Amino acid sequence: MKLLTATFAFSLLLCTMQHGIARTISHEQNAKHLNKPVVPALLAFGDSIFDSGNNNQLQTMLRSDFLPYGEDFITHRPTGRFCNGRIPTDFIASKLGIKELLPAYLSTSLSNEDLITGVSFASGGTGFDPITSQLAAAIPMTEQLEMFKKYREKVKSILGERGAKELLAQSAYLIVGGSNDLASLYFSSPLRSSRYDSSSYVDFLLHSASSFIQELIQLGARKIGIVGIPPIGCVPSQRTLQGGFARGCASIQNEVAQIYNSRLTKELEEIKKRHQNTTLVHLDIYAFLFDMIEHPTKYGFEVSYIGCCGTGLLEAAFLCNPMTLTVCTNVSRYIFWDSFHPTEKAYSVLVNYIYKNYFHHLVS
Ligand SMILES: *[C@@H]1O[C@H](CO)[C@@H](O)[C@H](O)[C@H]1NC(C)=O
Ligand SMILES: *[C@@H]1O[C@H](CO)[C@@H](O)[C@H](O)[C@H]1NC(C)=O
Repeated sequence: MKLLTATFAFSLLLCTMQHGIARTISHEQNAKHLNKPVVPALLAFGDSIFDSGNNNQLQTMLRSDFLPYGEDFITHRPTGRFCNGRIPTDFIASKLGIKELLPAYLSTSLSNEDLITGVSFASGGTGFDPITSQLAAAIPMTEQLEMFKKYREKVKSILGERGAKELLAQSAYLIVGGSNDLASLYFSSPLRSSRYDSSSYVDFLLHSASSFIQELIQLGARKIGIVGIPPIGCVPSQRTLQGGFARGCASIQNEVAQIYNSRLTKELEEIKKRHQNTTLVHLDIYAFLFDMIEHPTKYGFEVSYIGCCGTGLLEAAFLCNPMTLTVCTNVSRYIFWDSFHPTEKAYSVLVNYIYKNYFHHLVS
């Protein structure tokens, strides 16, 4: 059964589902224990890896504002993060000395201080291909840029034209995308695979990613990190759907992810030639995450082939919900929280790696 089919078959379950209420964290709580900020703000774009609750405001199945999501969060409440706790943008904002949590731009209670220290525009289920966001009813990447334009106006009204320009030029920008395009669209339906071979689809995605980056530069961004595609064939849902009886990694998906990643590096070099004052960094997580999955014990984990929520085989978003019969007893042993998303602990290990290896290029 394909993921999308499963997705719609289970949609009826939604009706009875309770939604948790995201509790806001005070600014004081959010700013404690921080060193002097390295950059004034963090702005994040892309999919569920960076979505801290934007999808809560949408009519989409791809939400996570209900338990057991958030059960290990600071408030032990769901927030719309696709994780048991914090997500990469929270850890990165903290490491940059900005704040402990990166709020969703669409969240209803943002202060001026929240705005000028950065927000996330990311939306679970989205991708660089417009069909991906359409199928997921998520916020398309182009719409995230429109939201960013509105955000700039708000920052101008707080800091003035000059102050805003300076803030936007000094801030760090992070983009994550491509996984849903491959896993949920290209390898799950004929919509694109009937018309594009994998190589030309990769080029199509990169063309879209490249336009996105260049528009962000036009809008004032100067320090941009782009996360490559992970070994998407090894996430529990893809093992279940395409990994055969033994639930091995779906190797074709991993191959295409690697082709994308190597072409992304080249594309960024091309963009840099045209925008010499801009720092562009490919945050390449493929090999590191693959090693974590292959050798979990090396990193303090025990289970990497199933998720913690439910059977761990297929549950994600609304398939992992308050009616899910079992959640694993010790989430610290797991790399994956649901069948698609890492646990807070795995994100923390991953962020330590990218921060140490890439951020000195990005924010120096
Ligand atoms: C790069 O930045 C320097 C110093 O801020 C500026 O003088 C120069 O015009 C910029 N170059 C481009 C291509 O934007
Ligand atoms: C949970 O798993 C972690 C990692 O394997 C281990 O260090 C910890 O002792 C376990 N906790 C319990 C309560 O079993």
